[in-house]
Amino acid sequence: MSNRTFTMIKPDAVANGHIGGILNMINAAGFRIVAMKMTQLSSAKAGEFYAVHKERPFYGELVEFMSSGHIVAAILEKDNAVEDFRKLIGATNPANAEEGTIRKKYAESIGRNAVHGSDSNENAAIEGDFFFSGLEKF
Ligand code: TYD
Repeated sequence: MSNRTFTMIKPDAVANGHIGGILNMINAAGFRIVAMKMTQLSSAKAGEFYAVHKERPFYGELVEFMSSGHIVAAILEKDNAVEDFRKLIGATNPANAEEGTIRKKYAESIGRNAVHGSDSNENAAIEGDFFFSGLEKF
């Protein structure tokens, strides 16, 4: 069934000029871009987005990094979108990411790992709504 996932190109990849390369990989893998914007998160907004990790030791660093520069947020559509996109981005730690994945190619470290991908259909909807109004998700 065709469904949707949510992604961000993170500040490391934007600053390093990898928006185009990452969007090419996303398109080549068969995802349709439903909505897209470049923006910068405040630390409060980044903290809210990653609230599920509030108790984790890396939370402060994660919030600081995610609010440190521009990001590109997008909603993507494809059959089996959530699972297939997690495969395309690869493991959280690029040292463990497989060849051909976005993180293998573009991530710098476990913290500065180039892209976000939703981990469930439910979170994909919540995260898409965090960035986009109904009018923007056609
Ligand atoms: P997580 O949801 O576990 O990974 P993923 O992005 O692959 O779904 O973690 C969210 C982000 O938190 C992750 O992309 C980078 C950061 N992070 C760290 O900085 N250190 C860590 O040890 C972990 C697990 C995550």
